[in-house]
Formats: sequence, structure tokens, C-alpha cells
Amino acid sequence: MANRWKNTLKERDVTPESAYLNRRQLIAGAAAAGAFGSIAQGAKAEELKPNKWDDITGYCNYYEFGTQKTDPAKYAHALTIKPWTVKIDGMVDKPGDYTFEDIMAKMTVEERIYRFRCVEKWAMVVPWNGFELADLLQLAGVQSNAKYVAFETVLRPEEMPGVHTNVLDWPYVEGLRMDEAMHPLTIMATGIYGKDIPKQNGAPLRLVVPWKFGFKSIKSIVRITATEHEPPTSWSKAYGRAYGFYSNVNPERNFPWSQESEKLLGSGLFARPQPTRLFNGYDEVASLYAGMDLQKYY
Ligand code: MTE
Repeated sequence: MANRWKNTLKERDVTPESAYLNRRQLIAGAAAAGAFGSIAQGAKAEELKPNKWDDITGYCNYYEFGTQKTDPAKYAHALTIKPWTVKIDGMVDKPGDYTFEDIMAKMTVEERIYRFRCVEKWAMVVPWNGFELADLLQLAGVQSNAKYVAFETVLRPEEMPGVHTNVLDWPYVEGLRMDEAMHPLTIMATGIYGKDIPKQNGAPLRLVVPWKFGFKSIKSIVRITATEHEPPTSWSKAYGRAYGFYSNVNPERNFPWSQESEKLLGSGLFARPQPTRLFNGYDEVASLYAGMDLQKYY
């Protein structure tokens, strides 16, 4: 148990990003050798070169601030994130309003370098800082008969210009099956590149589920509910069959357009798209879906 500052203050905080990127590659090599196994969990560390800060924070989807990719970076500064409280309720032994500071005091923040894949066919590699969602659910005493977890984003019309349009039903909501939520790859991100996560990326805490399309990774969470029933999700409410509850990255399912290839952000206008990988390359989650028809439960 340690606080966020202790855990996230690393060498990169005092080194320029380019030097940090070089060092990352060294660490990635070490990770492949097993010395730093946790930092790039779930993927071959040596393949992952993080995208630049400006790509990650300048090209965003956060419709509460507008639908253009640059809107969140322009408008999200208006979001008040202090104080911040997350209501944890439903099938938990310790329901309540947990302050951000309470949570951070009890969680262990670590770095996870993950691929991130949007349904719009762009992809990036992000050096997140965060903690495992399982640890937070256990802190709240999630009950054994709870089958799903529902999430809700803050809704503040006075701070969020995009919610005055009806492009989605507000607040933005998402959900996971309990075994997905408890999977060690599933994190609550609180930082990028060792800095507090910018508001446009979902400050102060957002979900990251690296084997699912990016819209499952709900931002600026204010409520987490353990429940018996599959919760509604914003995109499946809006576009029915196109965006299912599971939404695992799958090159073989059109969603609604072909998902066979993807383009890495920052790779340049003329760069070739690269092939999409099932579960975004995180093969270790395949067993969660054993026996499920991935075309049907998309
Ligand atoms: N969460 C909220 N509350 N509102 C949103 O519009 N967009 C989703 C997801 N989480 C979204 C959200 C989509 S479509 C994607 S691809 C990712 O956030 C983008 O995350 P990023 O902007 O940090 O790259």
C-alpha cells in the first residue's frame, strides 16, 4: 500500500520524453528477460513503443466535450476534478462514497504499457499508470453472487459543452462481466507517462480494458455498481447491433465496418495499416470467452 506520488514518481519525471522513450526500450528489453515482468504485462514488451504524449492527449474521444478529436483537449480543462468522489454501490459489503484520495491511499499504482484500439480503426500504445480494478472491487467487498460491474461518467452540463447535444444518452455508461472486471489486465488509470492523467483522457480516473474496443474504457468515473444483471452501455443503447456489450477487438467481425486492419497514431499519412489482432493481441483473455460465439456475442 502506498500513495500515488510515491509510486509514480520515476526517472522520467526528470528526464525529457525522448530520453525516457530510449530508456523505455531498455526496460522493455529487461521485461522480456523477466526482470520487470509487470510493466508490460499481457503483451510482448519488446514490441511496444509508446506513442508520443501529444498523440495520446491531443487526439481524443470524449463526447461530453464535443465530437471532434481535438475538442476534449480544447474544452476539458473546465472539468472540476477536485474534490472527486466515486460512489461504489450495489452488491458490495462496504457501499459508500469513496474520495479519490481514500482510494489512492489504498491502491498500488504501477505502470502498464498497453496497446489501445479504437473502433474507428486507429490504435496507439499508452504507458498508463494505474491500479487493478480488482483491488478496488475487493476494497469495497464485492459479493460473490455479483455477476457484472456497471460504470458511470460524471455529468456536469455546466462544464461539458457536448452534453447539450443528444449524440449519446448522458451520462456515459459502460459495463463489464465480473470475470473481465477482475482480470489482472483491467486497470483504473490515473496517469500517463508518470504524470496525472489529463482531463481530456478521463481524469482523475478512467477504466482501461486493453483487449476491448476503446469505447469500453469509460472516462472520469463517479459510480461503480456491482450487479446481478448485464448493465446497459452507451454505445449499444445508441447503435444496437453494431456495438455489443462485449466489444472485444476482433478482426473477423465487421463492427460495423471491416476491422481487419488498424493504423497506429503518429505513423504518418502514408504508413501502411497493420493487421488487427484478436483480443488486441492479449491472448491470455481468450479463456474468458471459451464456448462463446464471438460473432454473436460481439
Ligand atoms: N468515456 C466517456 N465518458 N465519453 C466518451 O466519449 N469515448 C470512448 C472512451 N471513453 C468516451 C469515453 C472512446 S470511443 C474511446 S476510443 C476512448 O475513450 C478514447 O480514449 P482517449 O481519448 O484517452 O484515447
